[in-house]
This record gives sequence, structure tokens and C-alpha cells, in this order.
Amino acid sequence: MRAAVLVSGGGTNLQALLDAQKAGQIPGVEFVLVISNRKQAYALERARLAGIEGVYLPTVRYENREEYHMALRDLLLDHHIDVILLAGFLVVLGKPVMEAFAGRILNIHPSLIPSFCGDGFYGLKVHEEVLRRGVKVTGATVHFVDEGTDTGPIILQKAVDVAQDDTPETLQKRVMEQAEWVIFPKAVALFAAGRLKIENGRVRILEEE
Ligand code: GRF
Repeated sequence: MRAAVLVSGGGTNLQALLDAQKAGQIPGVEFVLVISNRKQAYALERARLAGIEGVYLPTVRYENREEYHMALRDLLLDHHIDVILLAGFLVVLGKPVMEAFAGRILNIHPSLIPSFCGDGFYGLKVHEEVLRRGVKVTGATVHFVDEGTDTGPIILQKAVDVAQDDTPETLQKRVMEQAEWVIFPKAVALFAAGRLKIENGRVRILEEE
């Protein structure tokens, strides 16, 4: 199965995926393409170091949103991509990509959905809001992507305690280390093994054969 990872930032989730694959934890998956909408994203450097093709695809190069998403779709199709992994990609996927890859797009979100998600909840903002609200437990979620923002069927979640003295930065780091980098590779492995079944909008994890 050929995977593309879409990024905008540091790419620590990309790295977690590459490390897990190297360690034999994601059998059957080959990471063949990394796409970033930001030129300075360190994720592109991580791709280069891993010997994976990295493509900088900025939205400004295109007339409108539709054209960008058609170009993105074509790039993915040209590379014979089977599954798209959103690892901090800050562009909301458009219809062309959604239609061509329906049921084959996974996203990692740094909260326990349905809390602290949806429009405007991304990056540090999620953790700022978690601290502002004073919840004691947060975490991360891997889900299938549908036409809404963070509304698709939930695949895996992992909880992380909020510490009294957390700042958005310390909390973000703990959520990444303890939850995101753990559940994203696991979810990709389950998907690649054909063990994720959607029933009535919910994910059932099938037993290993
Ligand atoms: C992560 O917190 C991820 O959950 C969110 O964006 C961030 C990306 O970080 N969607 P990185 O680029 O993987 O380091």
C-alpha cells in the first residue's frame, strides 16, 4: 500500500510514522510521497533525509481553491497513492481529493474528539483552549476524514493527563509524545491490515486473522 503524508509543519508525526515503519510496525505500507503547502516546513527536510519524494505545493500558485485541490488530487493519483495521511496539514481538503480518496484519508487531531475540535481548533490553539477550560484529561484522536472538520469516524484515541502547571507548549509536547506518535502509526497499521470496518458511521476494529 502506497501512502502519502500531507504536512504543514515540523513533521514529528511524519517522523513517528517513518520510525514505526522502519521498526516493522506498519507492515505493507510504503511511504512514497510527502506534500507540504509550506516551503519552510521541516517535514520536507525529514522526507529528504528519509529518501522520500517531497513536494512543495502552495495554494497561492493556483487561481482558486478548486484548482489547487484538482492539482493535489492529480499529484496523488500520478503517484498511485492508496492512502492519504494528514499529519498537521493546515489546508482543508477539497472535493476533488475527497471524492477520489473517499474512505482512504486518515487524520490525527490533538484532542479527544468531539471535544476541542472543528473549525479554528488546530495546533497550539487546541491546547490553549484545553487549559482555559480547565479539563483534567485531554489526548489525541485518529479518524477517517469526511466532508466536515474533525467529524469523520473515530479510529483510535488515547488520553493524556493535564498537569496543573502545564503551558500550551508543555501540554502539546506531552500529547504528541504519549498519544499522537503512538496511535497514528497503530491506526495506519490497522488500516493497512484491512482491520477497520465502518458500520453505521462508527469504526469497528476487526480481530487479527
Ligand atoms: C499535531 O499536533 C497534529 O495533531 C496536528 O498538527 C500537529 C502537527 O505536528 N494535526 P507535526 O508537524 O507532526 O510535528
